[in-house]
Amino acid sequence: MQVTVFSCRKYDELPEFEKGAEELGLKLVTTNEIPGLDNVHLTNGSRCVAITTTPVGRELLKAYYDNGVRYIVTRCIGYDHIDVEAAKELGMTVANTPYGPDGVADYTVMLMLMAMRHMKAIMGRSAIQDYTLRGLLGRELKDMTVGIIGTGRIGLSTMRNLSGFGCKVLCYDIFPNKAAEAYGEYVSLEDLIRKSDIISLHMPLTEDNFHIIDAKALAKMKQGVIIVNTGRGPLIDSKALADAIESGKVGAAALDVVEDEFSLYYYDRKSDVLTNRELALFRSYPNVIVSHHMAFYTENYLKTIVRDSLRGCKAFMTGADNPWVVG
Ligand code: NAI
Repeated sequence: MQVTVFSCRKYDELPEFEKGAEELGLKLVTTNEIPGLDNVHLTNGSRCVAITTTPVGRELLKAYYDNGVRYIVTRCIGYDHIDVEAAKELGMTVANTPYGPDGVADYTVMLMLMAMRHMKAIMGRSAIQDYTLRGLLGRELKDMTVGIIGTGRIGLSTMRNLSGFGCKVLCYDIFPNKAAEAYGEYVSLEDLIRKSDIISLHMPLTEDNFHIIDAKALAKMKQGVIIVNTGRGPLIDSKALADAIESGKVGAAALDVVEDEFSLYYYDRKSDVLTNRELALFRSYPNVIVSHHMAFYTENYLKTIVRDSLRGCKAFMTGADNPWVVG
């Protein structure tokens, strides 16, 4: 029972994969190469393939199928990078590996606190032994209203985290859920935007919410509002946000995701001239924190995605129940 693991990171995934494969009696082929037509031979003898968020289209799926692969699992929650329809037509099974929402929720609250307490500027000053206070006056969460847009798994976990701080929590979702009512008050999107001191985004990116935070929405917000995005970059119109930061309308922002991050994040691009101008601007502002899409990156995430991708492969190959199948 052999599994080929593509894009396998040596420094964190590999030891987990080796341990998991031994426990489950699986044979592994591991490579740090990303899956493509030029390395289909790495699946020789494998019925299952594990990938990350790299695209796997019809042509590649067909090449895998012809080489005997019947199961493809992605080591993340979203699977829009796999042509699930094509896999179905070929007779291949697609699976994912959902992990808990709490890592992202913790990170979100950390970003809120860092943004409202000017942590980027504090750390910048401390690094050059500038121990002055001017411009670093913070606020307390208990005095603030936090607006959560998207009350699914991560939004709800963030609201639960916030309940300990004594702040007022407003929330909005196109499908409200009962559990969130225990931690916040559902209001219209318009009200949330107008009344919140901090606005945090927790939706998937869809055609309906592309640039949901645009110049019009920003204009309605409170003066000095703080914006936190651990959802998806294109939920915010970057140009409009940069304008609102420069005008002072937005007091601070913390962005774990940005538009057009894909060829940048997770690569070492320090010697390159980059073309994402808004990202360069955001990095330059003392009141904007940028992190490279890593709110998910915890020990729990790592153990879960490795363990469950292997468990799913084993279940597939032995005909056992497989809760990770998505198509
Ligand atoms: P979920 O599916 O549990 O919740 C998403 C919620 O958003 C749902 O309740 C849904 O009804 C709501 N929603 C969808 N469209 C909406 C709209 N236009 N307006 C208001 N609400 C809307 O998803 P989960 O697990 O909470 O994840 C949320 C998002 O967080 C993911 O889709 C992903 O984009 C992002 N994410 C970011 C990570 C990071 O490392 N920064 C890691 C994992 C997820």
